[in-house]
Amino acid sequence: MTDLSLVIRPERPEDAPAIERLHARAFGPGRFARTAYRLREGAAERVDLGITASVGSFLVGSVRMGPVRTGATSFVMLGPLAVDPSFAGRGIGGTLTRAAIEGARQAGEGLVILVGDAPYYARFGFTPVPPGRLSLPGPVDPARLLWLELADGFSAGASGLVEARGASL
Ligand SMILES: CC(C)(COP(=O)(O)OP(=O)(O)OC[C@H]1O[C@@H](n2cnc3c(N)ncnc32)[C@H](O)[C@@H]1OP(=O)(O)O)[C@@H](O)C(=O)NCCC(=O)NCCS
Repeated sequence: MTDLSLVIRPERPEDAPAIERLHARAFGPGRFARTAYRLREGAAERVDLGITASVGSFLVGSVRMGPVRTGATSFVMLGPLAVDPSFAGRGIGGTLTRAAIEGARQAGEGLVILVGDAPYYARFGFTPVPPGRLSLPGPVDPARLLWLELADGFSAGASGLVEARGASL
C-alpha cells in the first residue's frame, strides 16, 4: 500500500523535472519573466539547501535556495517556494520555508533574501530591505524585497547589486 502521509526531505538532483512541473502548476507561464527567476537563471542552485514535500510519489511542494552576493559578501536567496494549489493552506509552505531557513543557518549562511509577499514571509522573520540598500538585475517592487539575518550584523555588509554566484562558490 502507498503511504500517503506528507514527507519533508532535502531535494535530490532527480527531483528537478517534478519541481519544474510544480512551478508550472503554481506560477504559470509568467514565471520566466520574473526578476527573481532571471537572477536565479545565472546561479548555480544550492541543491543541498533545497527542501521538498511529497505525498506518495507526488511532489506537492518545493523550496530552493540560490547562492548570491553583493561585492565580496555572499549570502543566499530563497525561492522559488511553491505548493501545489490543491495542497495549499495546510502549512506545507510554512514547513518548507522554516526547514530551508534552518538548513541555511546550519550551512553557515548569514543572510537570506527573497522577493515575495511581505504579509506571508513576515511570520518567518523576514522584513523589507531598507529602500535603496539592495538592487536586483531587473525591476522589483521594493516592498517585496525582503531579508532575514541569520548571523547578527551580517546584513551590514550587504549593499548594492545582488548578483548570482557561480557554480564554484
Ligand atoms: C504562497 C504559498 C507557497 C503558500 O503555501 P501554503 O502551503 O498554502 O502555505 P501555508 O499553509 O504554510 O500558509 C497558509 C497561510 O498563508 C496565507 N498566505 C498564503 N499566501 C499568502 C500571501 N501571498 N500573502 C499573505 N498570506 C498568504 C494563507 O492565507 C494562510 O493563512 P492562515 O494560516 O492565516 O490561514 C502557495 O500558496 C503557493 O505556492 N503559491 C503560488 C506560488 C507563490 O506565490 N509562491 C511564493 C512566492 S516565491
